[in-house]
Amino acid sequence: MSIKFGIIGYGFMGHVHEEMLANLDGAQVAGICDIDEEQLKNVKDGIKRYVHAEDMLANPDIDVMIVAANNNQHKELVLKSAKAGKDIICEKPAALSVADLDEMVKAVNEYGVKFTVHQQRRYDRDFRVAKEVYDRKLLGELYTIKSSLYGFNGNMHDWHIFIEEGGGMLYDWGVHLLDQILWMIDSNIKTVFADMRNVINFEVDDYFKIILKFENGITAEVELGTYYLSDKPDWFERHWFMGGNKGSMYLDGFKPKGKLVRTTRLLQNVPGKKIMTASGPTRSFGEPSPGLIVTENLPEIYTEHGDYFRNYLKAWKGEGEFLVKIPEIRRVLSLMEAVRESAKTGHTVDFE
Ligand SMILES: NC(=O)c1ccc[n+]([C@@H]2O[C@H](COP(=O)([O-])OP(=O)(O)OC[C@H]3O[C@@H](n4cnc5c(N)ncnc54)[C@H](O)[C@@H]3O)[C@@H](O)[C@H]2O)c1
Repeated sequence: MSIKFGIIGYGFMGHVHEEMLANLDGAQVAGICDIDEEQLKNVKDGIKRYVHAEDMLANPDIDVMIVAANNNQHKELVLKSAKAGKDIICEKPAALSVADLDEMVKAVNEYGVKFTVHQQRRYDRDFRVAKEVYDRKLLGELYTIKSSLYGFNGNMHDWHIFIEEGGGMLYDWGVHLLDQILWMIDSNIKTVFADMRNVINFEVDDYFKIILKFENGITAEVELGTYYLSDKPDWFERHWFMGGNKGSMYLDGFKPKGKLVRTTRLLQNVPGKKIMTASGPTRSFGEPSPGLIVTENLPEIYTEHGDYFRNYLKAWKGEGEFLVKIPEIRRVLSLMEAVRESAKTGHTVDFE
């Protein structure tokens, strides 16, 4: 028997969900709702169309609602879905504040429905490779982890430039990048420092740099910029860097390319050897002596689009747990509030 899904919000992500579920055994899209009737004109035959969420929620055949509407709609749609007794997958960010999330969780518990959030970037291959390096302690004691994403064309689209709609890059990609870091690093955060900018947007952030100091000694830096203009061929760049006392890892791209890099011996105090660069002489940043640098391939990790829903279908049937748990979502939203506070005050914020 297939689990029947209803999709609320048939824009970019609503279409992605529909296509994903159409290719998965054990799932069926039974209804699609959008307040904008135009959006519904391409809904396939056999799938019911709704303009009002309430009408789709009254359909007893639908088991799970996927909330894929604009960010500022999530709370109301989750509350209504819970009240209608539907299980819920909510798009990220689950809520615009921790207080809103708490209200949603209260309703979900009151009506006894299943609730999780679409933080599917926990399956991104670049992230999983970095997480494998972390989990297997391949670099010894880590001191730094950097996760960055840059857009080279200055593009921010549709409602994402309006505060009222829940726009801004912290709510957009920021929630993914922070969720990845928090899911990877198994330690409490001591302090948060953040710089957030509206470089070209009037209302919302289009750049941020966030520095998290963890109790286990790691400092993580998460940086995103949309107005990082360049004519490089890819129009975006995704990077990871990890540094430990037994080596470094660099990783570029969503299809990860990179290396683990080590030295054959430690050079703590060597005679200074001067080399000349275009910007003058240096000793510390010259080329390494022959044979000093050795590299290893990154661990091979394969994930596929659809892994999130494969996990969901199993967990829904009671065969395991949902990958994304609500206390984890709450921690990320709390962190985002600390990020905003730090960016507003210019001060470091104590956390956890
Ligand atoms: N997980 C991811 O990787 C990922 C990627 C992109 C977007 N998203 C999330 O998906 C959600 C939708 O983003 P999008 O880019 O698809 O936006 P979009 O503007 O393309 O689509 C949103 C759709 O929701 C409809 N809508 C708005 N309010 C509604 C309501 N109350 N009831 C029914 N329909 C309503 C709009 O008419 C629109 O068609 C956002 O929360 C966004 O953060 C997640």
